[in-house]
Amino acid sequence: MIKKIAVIEGDGIGPEVTKQSINVLNAIAENFGHQFIYKHVLMGAVAIDKTGNPLPDETIDTCLNSDAILFGAIGHPKYDNNPNAKVRPEQGLLKLRKTLQLYANIRPINTYPSLQHLSPLKSKNIEAVDFIIFRELTGGIYFGKKELNAEGTQASDDCVYNREEIERMAHLAFHFAQKENRRKKVTLVDKANVLETSRLWRKVVQEVAAQYPDVTVEYMFVDNAAMQIILNPKQFDIVLTENMFGDIISDEASVISGSLGLLPSASIGTGGLALFEPIHGSYPQAAGKDIANPIGSILSAAMMLEYLGMKEEADTVRKAVAWTLQNGFVTKDIDPVNFYFTSTLGELITDYINGIVPGSVKKENIELRKSTII
Ligand code: IPM
Ligand code: MN
Repeated sequence: MIKKIAVIEGDGIGPEVTKQSINVLNAIAENFGHQFIYKHVLMGAVAIDKTGNPLPDETIDTCLNSDAILFGAIGHPKYDNNPNAKVRPEQGLLKLRKTLQLYANIRPINTYPSLQHLSPLKSKNIEAVDFIIFRELTGGIYFGKKELNAEGTQASDDCVYNREEIERMAHLAFHFAQKENRRKKVTLVDKANVLETSRLWRKVVQEVAAQYPDVTVEYMFVDNAAMQIILNPKQFDIVLTENMFGDIISDEASVISGSLGLLPSASIGTGGLALFEPIHGSYPQAAGKDIANPIGSILSAAMMLEYLGMKEEADTVRKAVAWTLQNGFVTKDIDPVNFYFTSTLGELITDYINGIVPGSVKKENIELRKSTII
């Protein structure tokens, strides 16, 4: 297959983790006889620096002319610490999601047995966790009217949802819950005891649920969900929620896997185009140091392969990732003492895809930061 991929490296660690994903994709292309044509475009703080615009038109055009989008990370401290900044990197990503109508963000959460001992959570609570957060991505408080009064003393952000926005998300989540490998349960996370938007979510989700009698539905307030995710994450199968709650609980849920750096996501929508990005931010303190975890990005690339109809290829990438983790090859975010570099991990994963079997990797050489191959 020939596929056109728009690559947006973005800010901070975005470029270095995306680089490893591209190496992995190239190894897949070589081994499975595909051709991936990459077009690199700008978004975020780098785009502001070069063009004054966090999302140049060229970036949108390139995305629209691609089969999929691979995105790294966005954000820069010079904007985070300046509440008066009129133009912000994040506006680029939000505008791209809205323009491409990428209304659903899918974030799978699972655990790796070899990492459980490194988690701050008790092993018995996190083994065999497997749930997926379906986060609404183009509505709610992120996109409502924002106001600051003339004196700069009062501000507001409107949270707005309409029935259609909730319905399409709910159908997606219920549909997914019915899949063969799922446990047929949807948990709607909201704050229906306080928020009108949440009550609309409950009402619409109840109606949609009636069309999926084989799927169990549960409703949970977000404050309780934040606790349950830590106390008993095994109870979840599909978690359906609005934009802001989804943003918050997915960072929280990453603690179960072992690190925010491990988690991938797919943003899908109405236009048939999809964007794949790790859920982590730009982690500016680590930028350029070769210490960031590339796995969130690499697993996002795997989700992209699956979306492009390359299931076996996606599974090959996931297998390679699982192999590195099983063998203790982890980055600094997971093990601050015995850690490997971003590039070493990327190399190991591509080596595995290229058929260099586990037995032939010399761990001592990797430890000495030498070749990963014999
Ligand atoms: C994410 C990020 C973004 C979000 C930021 C960078 C705008 O945190 O994708 O989770 O809040 O959606
Ligand atoms: Mn986030």
